[in-house]
Amino acid sequence: MRTVVVYASAHGATEGIARRIADGLRAGGDPVELRDLGGAPSDHDDTPVGGGRLVIGSAIHNGQWLPIAEDFAKSVTTASNGQVWAFSVSSVGATSTFLSPWVARWLRPRTPLPRAVATLDATGILRAHRVFAGAIAKGDWPGLGRIVFRLMGGHYGDARDWDDIDSWVRQILDDEVPAPADGES
Ligand SMILES: Cc1cc2nc3c(=O)[nH]c(=O)nc-3n(C[C@H](O)[C@H](O)[C@H](O)COP(=O)(O)O)c2cc1C
Repeated sequence: MRTVVVYASAHGATEGIARRIADGLRAGGDPVELRDLGGAPSDHDDTPVGGGRLVIGSAIHNGQWLPIAEDFAKSVTTASNGQVWAFSVSSVGATSTFLSPWVARWLRPRTPLPRAVATLDATGILRAHRVFAGAIAKGDWPGLGRIVFRLMGGHYGDARDWDDIDSWVRQILDDEVPAPADGES
């Protein structure tokens, strides 16, 4: 199935995950196009992807997807896209974190869905959303955020769980979506 992986990344962790997902899907035999939403206009166009499978991911800043990814999510409609898969990259992933483990355990069930994911979910074509932990370097999180980061037991480094990312890719590849019956769009 033709697949487009689009992503928005501020400091590179989301980009690394998007590349890993694209490589995994390619290894599964799919033709895959990787688009950096923050790249030069020639790297991508703003038109909806159209048919096939769309994987869309963004870094989380202040609880939300980056604005360019949120805008893209708003352009995703049932008419323009087939299956949609979404991932968010934040301090606390489903299986790893760069905050303290107890803070992560407290946050996981209490963190609301980013607006953009709720928007995608409302289309009815979102197959799944997964949250991965990203990475943080000294200086990435300025001002007050740095103090909150320290209070939450944060430590600088890369918390990406590549096994979890690879297993999500397998889930995408294994997902069987019934073909629409005659007369359905
Ligand atoms: C300015 C800023 C704001 C952030 N806000 C949040 C947040 O609200 N919640 C969270 O879990 N992580 C937050 N993070 C952590 C990032 O989501 C994490 O570092 C992620 O790996 C960023 O992905 P990127 O490297 O692709 O930009 C923030 C990071 C920065 C730099």
